[in-house]
Amino acid sequence: MRRRQFACDLHQGNSFAPLPLHLCADFALDHSRCSCAFYGAIVFHILTGGLLCLISALPPVTSLEPHRTTMWLEVVTAVLAVVLATLVSLRVWYRTTSGRCTSRKSMVGKTVVITGATAGIGKETARDLLRRGARVIIACRNLEKGCRVASELQANGDSRSEVVVRHLDTSDLSSVRNFAKEVLDTEKAIHVLINNAGAVFPDKRQVTADGLELTMATNYFGHFLLTNLLLGRLKESAPSRVVIVSSAYHEYVKNLDLKDLNFEGESYTMIEAYNKSKLCNVLFARELADRTAGTGVTSNSLHPGIVTTSILDRVPYTLAGFILRNLSSFIIKDAVCGAQTTNHLAVSEEVEGVSGRYFADCKETTASELARRKDLATGLWEASVKAVGLKENKIYY
Ligand SMILES: NC(=O)c1ccc[n+]([C@@H]2O[C@H](COP(=O)([O-])OP(=O)(O)OC[C@H]3O[C@@H](n4cnc5c(N)ncnc54)[C@H](OP(=O)(O)O)[C@@H]3O)[C@@H](O)[C@H]2O)c1
Repeated sequence: MRRRQFACDLHQGNSFAPLPLHLCADFALDHSRCSCAFYGAIVFHILTGGLLCLISALPPVTSLEPHRTTMWLEVVTAVLAVVLATLVSLRVWYRTTSGRCTSRKSMVGKTVVITGATAGIGKETARDLLRRGARVIIACRNLEKGCRVASELQANGDSRSEVVVRHLDTSDLSSVRNFAKEVLDTEKAIHVLINNAGAVFPDKRQVTADGLELTMATNYFGHFLLTNLLLGRLKESAPSRVVIVSSAYHEYVKNLDLKDLNFEGESYTMIEAYNKSKLCNVLFARELADRTAGTGVTSNSLHPGIVTTSILDRVPYTLAGFILRNLSSFIIKDAVCGAQTTNHLAVSEEVEGVSGRYFADCKETTASELARRKDLATGLWEASVKAVGLKENKIYY
């Protein structure tokens, strides 16, 4: 018998903002296909730009001699064909070389908690887990949307799967505590915790009621507290896994000041805050792995790839924005592809017992130099315990 628990209540959502100027660099950061994708993206932009320039430079077709009209049309058709062929090749190549979770493991009898499963990558991960028969707790800040998504996902889930929707705003520590309490009161076991929710915020520093910078609170501090509060149950349910969705953007960070994690002293930019929150995700996964070694709980972080999610919603309405919005699906991953590495880390037998590593395209890869620094990971953990007010009696590591 399928069970649904939908507690509905209105809660306004925020959408993921874009990082458009970095798009070409994103390809370069997608390690396994770095240089090819990078140059592919450049070729694509040159060809598209060339075509647009050519079209705008053309005299009106009606003012031309018939034979010149035919010639111009042939040139335009040829350029168009090259652009299309490039796009299609890039699409086929990018999609076929993207990592795939090949595990067929059933998740019947397993309970998974996932944050940010109402859209994008998280939604596709939840879909995959429900198809495998898992009991999935969708932790979302907008319960109405969560209920809608849950009905959609349950409709094509395995008949033994179960979905539960619960309220969680990762940027609000009291919401994290309430959510953790509800889950601990109702779930006897938690086999997988997927910290996926993430967002970026416009170029003005915002501070939460807990005094934390909003990007850091949403992407990092909330998940740090949540994981710690659920850690006891994860240990009791071992073997269990913590999967943390980070980003290759963490590689842009050149310095992490542990005394200024909330951008009080440092000037704030949206990109800097996002990148630092993603670096913290990788450091957190690594330190958690060390602190839970030998308990049967594993912890890994990942870069999902560059994925067409609501990330493009706020691309400015420029020519580049138009091209990105309309053509990006040709050259970057869709959400199903983007969910593969998360799925792999959540279910695959291949990574059983693997902990403290960083993955992309379903393969282990090397995180940035800063992300590999043990002293930084330990320092961040200690600073985070203080920042979220983790109590002694809630420490399970
Ligand atoms: N897309 C990419 O190219 C890319 C690349 C690297 C890393 N990532 C990472 O992948 C993860 C998923 O992102 P996505 O691309 O799938 O973006 P998305 O489509 O915008 O989905 C983000 C999810 O997080 C939820 N969320 C945001 N703030 C929240 C909060 N305060 N409390 C609870 N839930 C919250 C959103 O809820 P609502 O539905 O209510 O908005 C949504 O379900 C993020 O951690 C992101 O940093 C993405």
